[in-house]
Amino acid sequence: MPHSPAPLRLGVNIDHVATIRNARGGDHPDPVKAALLAVKAGADGITAHLREDRRHIRDEDVATLMAALNVPLNLEMAATAEMLDIALRYKPHAACIVPEKREERTTEGGLDAAGQFESLQPIVKALGDAGIRVSLFIEADARQIDAAIRLGAPVVEFHTGAYAHMHGEARAAELRKLADAAALAAKNGIEPHAGHGLTFDNVAPIAAIPQVAELNIGHFLIGEAIFGGLEGSIREMRRQMDLAR
Ligand code: PXP
Repeated sequence: MPHSPAPLRLGVNIDHVATIRNARGGDHPDPVKAALLAVKAGADGITAHLREDRRHIRDEDVATLMAALNVPLNLEMAATAEMLDIALRYKPHAACIVPEKREERTTEGGLDAAGQFESLQPIVKALGDAGIRVSLFIEADARQIDAAIRLGAPVVEFHTGAYAHMHGEARAAELRKLADAAALAAKNGIEPHAGHGLTFDNVAPIAAIPQVAELNIGHFLIGEAIFGGLEGSIREMRRQMDLAR
């Protein structure tokens, strides 16, 4: 019998529901409502990135998500004292440590776990001691996996952003790098996850990497929801307007 890979979990990142909410400063659309809908639709977990500048998810969203969800919350966070405090206060199921620069539009590139070993060590330990499953968002690179092993991180998430933006042979080469990295991580007892820039058009080869246990997907799903849902919301508005006359 061929050995079938383990089930693949889907973590839905709801950051950009909050981006749309914050554009008007009110409370619609509610990222917690979106999270509950994601779970109803088959998400195994919810991912949210509390950025230093709070451009999308805010502290109170983390509190409400923790109270409302019956699936794991994966909190993406920079390796700072402020974020460590917040993670220790809310104790999400998992914390994914990401590099963060204020001026970037999204997380560009993986965490330099090898270069920042000393400063990451106490943060990874404090999170782990609190029972939070630590993940490091890294490039598919043996040096970074080695640092994750030495840091004792149980999970790494491989950055698929470069793969997502490449085409042809370059993409095939990046896919091979991701597959090799997932195998190397798994061989060393680390659970490999992957995410960033995944879409209907590019997800399948990543989902087919047998060791990958979880994909975290956000921006595309929220964008695509416009096409799945805009028609219905316009029809409902039209109906209510017509009904009022
Ligand atoms: N995984 C990590 C660690 C991320 O930082 C992000 C973006 O916040 C994602 C996954 C999801 O990426 P995207 O929004 O492009 O699907």
